[in-house]
Amino acid sequence: MSAPFLRLGVNVDHVATIRNARGGRHPDPVRAAKLAIAAGCDGITAHLREDRRHIRDDDMARLKAEISKPLNFEMAATDEMVKIALATKPHAVCLVPEKRTERTTEGGLDAAGQKAQLKPAVHALKAAGIRVSLFIGAQQAQIEAAAELGSPVIEIHTGAWCDALTEGKAAEAKIEWELIKSGAQFAKSLGLEVHAGHGLDFASAETIASLPQIAELNIGHFLIGEAVFEGLDQTVKLMRAAMDRGRKKATS
Ligand code: PXP
Repeated sequence: MSAPFLRLGVNVDHVATIRNARGGRHPDPVRAAKLAIAAGCDGITAHLREDRRHIRDDDMARLKAEISKPLNFEMAATDEMVKIALATKPHAVCLVPEKRTERTTEGGLDAAGQKAQLKPAVHALKAAGIRVSLFIGAQQAQIEAAAELGSPVIEIHTGAWCDALTEGKAAEAKIEWELIKSGAQFAKSLGLEVHAGHGLDFASAETIASLPQIAELNIGHFLIGEAVFEGLDQTVKLMRAAMDRGRKKATS
């Protein structure tokens, strides 16, 4: 049996980062989202952070109104964000941890330790028909907690694996890879849909595409950075090709 199609979600946060460096409207993350969709991606991800350092409320509203593919709204499980998500009605919400001082989402949610805080957000979003995903590390306890919370989807944080790869730390990368691999298998065995993201580039996306349990990759920083050299259209196409090469190696 061949592995199912692997979706590519393009995260446009860093188009907004560049725009916000100068203020004004250029470059527009909604324009980037439309271009990425035209180039063949399967959905758009955007993270509305508490400090609005990149995506702003108006970007999220425009993405929802103007794009033709599913919108994945990344957010912290706060009352403020739940309220905005319920009003925006995106296809999906990915709940992520958020620290004001971090440069990016540094680790996964502690779903096991924060069940009580996460439960109301998961339930409210699900009740509104929004597909909920929890961004977690691939440890078994976190995956079990996500299942117990009733989240139908998890997104495995691939940051530590990608960092080890780019820093040439082979032994560490192998440990992280085995964790991702066994986590994806375990989550699938519990009936969860498995996504992955953070720090992925062409090579790591090709490698992780070989795991048949993974249904979606969400990729931002590398794609937007590479687009400076290759253009967004070409970069999305090259990523699609890398993922397709990797998926051909998947054995389910
Ligand atoms: N998935 C989630 C849940 C994230 O928080 C991020 C970063 O915003 C990504 C994927 C994309 O990570 P990167 O920008 O490193 O590709």
